Amino acid sequence: VLHSHFREQVHPYLELIDSLRLMGIDKDLSLPAIAVIGDQSSGKSSVLEALSGVALPRGSGIVTRCPLMLRLRKVMGLSEWKGTISYKNETKDIKDPAKVGDYVVKAQNELAGNGVGICDELISLEIMSPEVCDLTLIDLPGIARVPVKGQPHDIGDQIKRLIHRFIANEETINLVVVPCNVDIATTEALRMAQEVDPDGKRTLAILTKPDLVDCGTEKNILDIVDNRVIPLSKGYIVVKCRGQQQIQDGIPLAEATRMERDFFSQHKYFRRLLDEGKATTQCLTIKLTQDLVGCIKNFLPTLSEQIKKELCNLRELLSQYPVGPPIDAQKRRLFLTRLLIEFNNKINRLIEGKVVTKEN
Ligand code: GDP
Ligand code: NA
Ligand code: MG
Repeated sequence: VLHSHFREQVHPYLELIDSLRLMGIDKDLSLPAIAVIGDQSSGKSSVLEALSGVALPRGSGIVTRCPLMLRLRKVMGLSEWKGTISYKNETKDIKDPAKVGDYVVKAQNELAGNGVGICDELISLEIMSPEVCDLTLIDLPGIARVPVKGQPHDIGDQIKRLIHRFIANEETINLVVVPCNVDIATTEALRMAQEVDPDGKRTLAILTKPDLVDCGTEKNILDIVDNRVIPLSKGYIVVKCRGQQQIQDGIPLAEATRMERDFFSQHKYFRRLLDEGKATTQCLTIKLTQDLVGCIKNFLPTLSEQIKKELCNLRELLSQYPVGPPIDAQKRRLFLTRLLIEFNNKINRLIEGKVVTKEN
């Protein structure tokens, strides 16, 4: 999908951030990422599926119940698809791409319990294949308004708190998924994104289900995409994913991609979006990759600054301690002997002190 020259520039940046994450640096400072948010059934999983080529669990109701970090790595020359799922310090290999959904469901059940609850713990899913794009995305539970049977009464607030934790991070690009057939002005996910990013510098909106747009409202959608309704500096992209019927008919993703292009090129109103680079999943992939790399490049000076500061603090802390043992064996023995004598003297003084207090 991506020009190979462009891809080679992407890989090292993502690798760097991944290795920092593995070292646990994200506990001390936040790393660049892309978070996917939206109302329940807005099409989040469908978009992720189209970007990753991996069938994720989906359907109606709450499906994503834990944050899921989807790490897509394009590895050329890899003869077979490779998947790994990690959570709770455990890592499992996945052999069959068709089983990914089952593994994710099992992980969610272990972390959030069987049922309809949610959990803050991250599941990490790595996919290596010559066919995926280089991206790291975080899928989050969808925003639900009304609790269903078995859900705590404050489930809506719990989900919003979880989402907020991710999107508030200044290094995160927020991908807000909104269906074309709902009123964008009332979308909770977009409202939340605007709250943490008032200028829309790191918010990109994706309009899904363009095939379900109400007849006669196509121009409203174009107004939104043209940034005339809720302006975002990263703007809008329209994508058409597989509907429920197409999934039931077993239409493969590659075929769906072709159908998506045909849909736009034959659409009376949306056709022009193709030329403007504001439609299709392929276009979204390119834009996201560029944005993520841009974000990482901007982040590197901050990272270097933070590391220098931390090093300085540690050096100062270290300077408060006496020198350590010498390398030379002979001198080391002397050093340790002296240390032991000193220690012994300290203990003796303490004992003497105790004796004194007792006598008093
Ligand atoms: P999520 O809850 O936000 O993850 O939403 P899903 O990805 O599970 O999608 C909800 C439903 O919308 C599913 O039945 C999808 O097949 C359907 N859907 C997603 N995108 C489109 C689209 O572009 N067109 C149509 N017609 N249906 C779509
Ligand atoms: Na869903
Ligand atoms: Mg979902």
